[in-house]
Amino acid sequence: MGERARDRAGEIAALRLGLDLGITLIDTAEMYADGEAEKVVGEAIAGRRDQVFLVSKVYPHHGSRRGVVAACERSLARLDTDRLDLYLLHWRGDIALSETVAGFENLRKAGRIRAWGVSNFDRGDMEELLALPSGAHCAANQVLYHLDCRGIEWDLEPFCRSHGVAIIAYSPFDEGRLLRDRRLAALAEREGVTAAQLALAWLLARRNVAAIPKASGTAHVHDNRRAASIELSPALRAEIDRLFPPPKRASALKMI
Ligand SMILES: NC(=O)c1ccc[n+]([C@@H]2O[C@H](COP(=O)([O-])OP(=O)(O)OC[C@H]3O[C@@H](n4cnc5c(N)ncnc54)[C@H](OP(=O)(O)O)[C@@H]3O)[C@@H](O)[C@H]2O)c1
Repeated sequence: MGERARDRAGEIAALRLGLDLGITLIDTAEMYADGEAEKVVGEAIAGRRDQVFLVSKVYPHHGSRRGVVAACERSLARLDTDRLDLYLLHWRGDIALSETVAGFENLRKAGRIRAWGVSNFDRGDMEELLALPSGAHCAANQVLYHLDCRGIEWDLEPFCRSHGVAIIAYSPFDEGRLLRDRRLAALAEREGVTAAQLALAWLLARRNVAAIPKASGTAHVHDNRRAASIELSPALRAEIDRLFPPPKRASALKMI
């Protein structure tokens, strides 16, 4: 979002519709459209900030103690708000994690962020982070997770869960590719739902997992909202596991 001026009104309408329908988590980042995505979000949530759980992310190269604070202030200005609910390190860079954690903690104590977390952190990165002073304050790890990419179930997700770190599943439709998968399409048709609803309902049914589909069209927002009321029977879950098997061994975390 925020890439093209001509799409702006539609994007704002889609975000506002999401809020109207009770979809309260909005995920953005300073990187997206070079800050323009945050401005779109700022416009969409104007006057209804308290309805939103607002997440943004800092570039790794802004991850120093002072850099994090300065980047956060710029994001807050673009979002036209006084606080973030969650602030994430977008991926691991070269700056020492202890620096980033110190910056996050300063922002938290100042009330500029309610909580902080990370993104694209694999098991080893999480272990290092949690061993740092205040590292255990990490609230979430945002990672690539969808039906056709279940590697985190091997050890990253159980590890995060056991340490109170929520998983936020990004690209839950594999950037749209998953929705063209014939196995998923056939199963969804038989169940009388859309492929997007089935993919999302499966993620939402998992413990400790939130999902952040991007939908810039209002029809897609309506479609995705309905996923929250779909119950998956044990038989259907077993069938999904046969078509999209859980991992049988450890693998490196994938990222987009
Ligand atoms: N932390 C990270 O490193 C990272 C990396 C990538 C993404 N993310 C986050 O994850 C979010 C989502 O990921 P994503 O945009 O990469 O991929 P995605 O959500 O898996 O897929 C988005 C695509 O699916 C389409 N779509 C949405 N709902 C649909 C529906 N009901 N039926 C059919 N198509 C539908 C969208 O179309 P329309 O837009 O036309 O509605 C768009 O083309 C991003 O916005 C970002 O916040 C984080």
